[in-house]
Amino acid sequence: MISNARLFVFISLLGISSAGNIKVSRHDVRKFPDSFVFGAATASYQIEGGWDEDGKSENIWDRLTHTEPCSIADCSNGDIADDSYHLYKRDVEMMRELGLDFYRFSLSWSRILPTSFPDKVNEAGIQYYNNLIDEMLKYNIEPMITLYHWDLPQKLQEMGGWSNPYIVDWFADYARIAFENFGDRVKYWITMNEPREVCYQGYGTVTKAPRLNIQGIAEYMCAKNLLMAHAKAYHIYNEEYRQSQNGVIGITLSAHWYYPETDADIEAAAEVIEFEWGQYAHPIFSEAGDFPPVMREKIAAKSAEQGFPRSRLPEFTPEEIDYVRGSSDFFGLNHYSTYIVYRNQSLNNYHNVPSYYDDMNAAPYQSSEWEHGASSFLKVVPDGFYRLLTDIREKYNNPPVYITENGYSTYGGLIDDDRIAYYRKYLSAMLDAMDEGSDVRGYAAWSIMDNFEWMQGYTERFGLYEVDYESPERTRTPRKSAFVYKQILRTRELDMHYEPDTNVMTIDEGK
Ligand SMILES: *[C@@H]1O[C@H](CO)[C@@H](O)[C@H](O)[C@H]1NC(C)=O
Repeated sequence: MISNARLFVFISLLGISSAGNIKVSRHDVRKFPDSFVFGAATASYQIEGGWDEDGKSENIWDRLTHTEPCSIADCSNGDIADDSYHLYKRDVEMMRELGLDFYRFSLSWSRILPTSFPDKVNEAGIQYYNNLIDEMLKYNIEPMITLYHWDLPQKLQEMGGWSNPYIVDWFADYARIAFENFGDRVKYWITMNEPREVCYQGYGTVTKAPRLNIQGIAEYMCAKNLLMAHAKAYHIYNEEYRQSQNGVIGITLSAHWYYPETDADIEAAAEVIEFEWGQYAHPIFSEAGDFPPVMREKIAAKSAEQGFPRSRLPEFTPEEIDYVRGSSDFFGLNHYSTYIVYRNQSLNNYHNVPSYYDDMNAAPYQSSEWEHGASSFLKVVPDGFYRLLTDIREKYNNPPVYITENGYSTYGGLIDDDRIAYYRKYLSAMLDAMDEGSDVRGYAAWSIMDNFEWMQGYTERFGLYEVDYESPERTRTPRKSAFVYKQILRTRELDMHYEPDTNVMTIDEGK
């Protein structure tokens, strides 16, 4: 059973007339803390375009979309995408219209380092990000940079990508170039976006580039190397740049919530959580460090049964455990939806085929009765968000959390009441967890505008602004949700019933 989030009744004073009489009314309005910051998020490959301009080299998404175009739902690609490489000033104008405190975007590795390495730094690439950062700072919008949001240089992939342990150094070199060039002005750094999707989907399956499909093996090699690369970038920042640059640096994990189907499945649901986001959270945020014990035990046991001489899950040495543990100033959290977990006899048939799901021996699914967005996985279950935030608080000693993505997909259209309802319910669930002590400090909507949604191409739309892909200008038009989000940011309140009275977007001066 999913309990309803408690609604706070907030009594607001609705203005004092010149006659001096005070109108008091009750609303379903909840206040955000004064220090809470709001933003919106994007990623380089999904918006920039300019795929081969000014010296940028090929990355794994260029390669995939050019060689297997119809692996993407609409056979599209990010060659132009939202053309933010040229239209960044319009992007900043939208940030001002919404009244964002911060904007999360990612750097394209192959735009900055076309050889993949720091032997040649592409000045045009550095200039592009300098222009964007400076334009944002002109209007007091804080940049939050993700170093790696899935667009690995193709050359590094050909050398094994995240399955090659040398990537720890390659990534560290790239991170240093970024701190060196942008760290004077950028105070929020995210090393990696969603390691689980990078490794499981890209290396274990075919649902993200590079689609290696080497199940139960490559995704675990990727996981260890990615965690070590993250930690190395963290330590470089911490030791060489933090004192002069004064920023914070962390990692962003994707995390779903998992309900047990019945009481008999409680252990199974807890184990799925350890396999999914605990795989990355436990090494960094737990007191003990290392991969979660349940993963280590299960994968070692399965590997032995299957005839492997050692576990398919790589081990961390004691020094490596220490190196990774604590290597994040905050818990960056991307959250979209919730699943239900069961475990029974039907799952016991796959022992000879190594795979992540066989290793966890549990099956997640979603209820067909849950409302959902255009993305099939995007079921609307706000209580799952509340429980997830509570679990992070309880398991990892209440780390500071930034919600670095949360949002809802449609098939397009400017009147997006379903997206508005999603945002309201999820923000309300987040406030429930904060009322109980969760240290959530900021929230970024995914996304400020429609963009290239990976394997779904342009068929699924996540934007507060609609993008017209037929127009050469990639015209951006605010949806109804943009006006609602703007109102939340302006008032620092969540009003469950606010209706915008305009569809004309303006910039509030003084922001
Ligand atoms: C296992 O559980 C699933 C989900 O509830 C159910 O559909 C299936 O029939 C069960 N199978 C067995 C063998 O119990």
